[in-house]
Amino acid sequence: MKQRIDSHRRRVLQGVAGTAALGALPRFAFAQAAPVKIGLILPMTGPFASTGKQISAACKLYIERNGDTVAGRKVELIVKDDGGLQPETTKRIAQEMVVQDKVTILAGFGLTPLAFAAAPVATEAKVPMVVMAAGTQIIPQRSPFIVRTGFTLPQNTAPIATWAAKNKIKRVFSLVTDYAPGLDAEKAFQARFSSAGGTTVESVRTPLRNPDYAPFLQRAKDSKADALFVFVPSGEGLALMKQFEERGLKQAGMKLIGPGDVVDDDLLESMGAAAVGVITSMHYSAAHDSPENKAYVAAMMKANPGMRPNFHSVGGYDGMHLIYEAVKKQPNGSGEQLVEAMKGMKWVSPRGPMMIDPATRDVVQTVYLREVKMVNGQPWNIEFARFENVGPAG
Ligand code: PHB
Repeated sequence: MKQRIDSHRRRVLQGVAGTAALGALPRFAFAQAAPVKIGLILPMTGPFASTGKQISAACKLYIERNGDTVAGRKVELIVKDDGGLQPETTKRIAQEMVVQDKVTILAGFGLTPLAFAAAPVATEAKVPMVVMAAGTQIIPQRSPFIVRTGFTLPQNTAPIATWAAKNKIKRVFSLVTDYAPGLDAEKAFQARFSSAGGTTVESVRTPLRNPDYAPFLQRAKDSKADALFVFVPSGEGLALMKQFEERGLKQAGMKLIGPGDVVDDDLLESMGAAAVGVITSMHYSAAHDSPENKAYVAAMMKANPGMRPNFHSVGGYDGMHLIYEAVKKQPNGSGEQLVEAMKGMKWVSPRGPMMIDPATRDVVQTVYLREVKMVNGQPWNIEFARFENVGPAG
């Protein structure tokens, strides 16, 4: 602490040395503005560790590119691992961050049950909670202090249902992970697909922990549906794709469709040719063709060799942007004032244009249709159509 004050004091002194006699310096010139402490709670270990690694890397990159002070306040990132599976752990870490670390903002939240667990802590402490990853639609309703920078499942699912109904897909077998975002995806798909004339022939749910996709994929194959609709959370796509290939569903002519979590860019290279032809709708592809995204992907890959940035990473990057901009608007704002400042914020992200809907505190953004194609020997999600200004309900 002393060292920090000393170095700050030195900077202040250097700044004024040319204009004022040191003896005349007012005392307040030495007061240090309180830091902006961001408590980032993420799964850094366990089956969803890729989410934590992607988001923490993106948050660090944001600081590197935009400086570690905002509105004269130092930005401090405190990263804690919740392991991804135990809501009580996430809640305990959130409490510790609020009480002991006195964080300005809570952020991260890799899975829905973990975001649900932390929501009452944010409400009680009146601390903004920036949800960067978890995607169940109702999350922001759990606390007036929640603002989301990632995506919702209905938002990313409705466009693929519209596309399927228009592209000769009449009968679909649905498979989702059996927890809140899976149920959101299942519901959003079936509502949109059936209103467009399609039929869901069977709907199955696989467990979040230790799923075995093989028997479900065999049933899907036997159904002779035109397509398999899938939602699995990021981190699970590789296991599902392996079974999809081994069971010969692709060879049997069955298309794989869904929101883009199953072809997460973090794992896509490991999936290789098996993923080619998968058609999904999603708010982010590492192949998105814009100057902002090209610079983002190059910087992420330079800072994290071998890691292709995925959709969760932009939730983190844009979450940092939202925090910086809110602090600029309200340099010493309370939790309530920071949330107010976040409402209605609009910017161009590596994913494309986005905004925070002031009514729901949720993200409104472009959702793209994409197909996995080989480019220079590597699979990429290549965007071929877009739906603009898609809200949290899809
Ligand atoms: C979630 O738990 O809300 C979640 C996690 C990973 C995803 C999507 C949703 O890819």
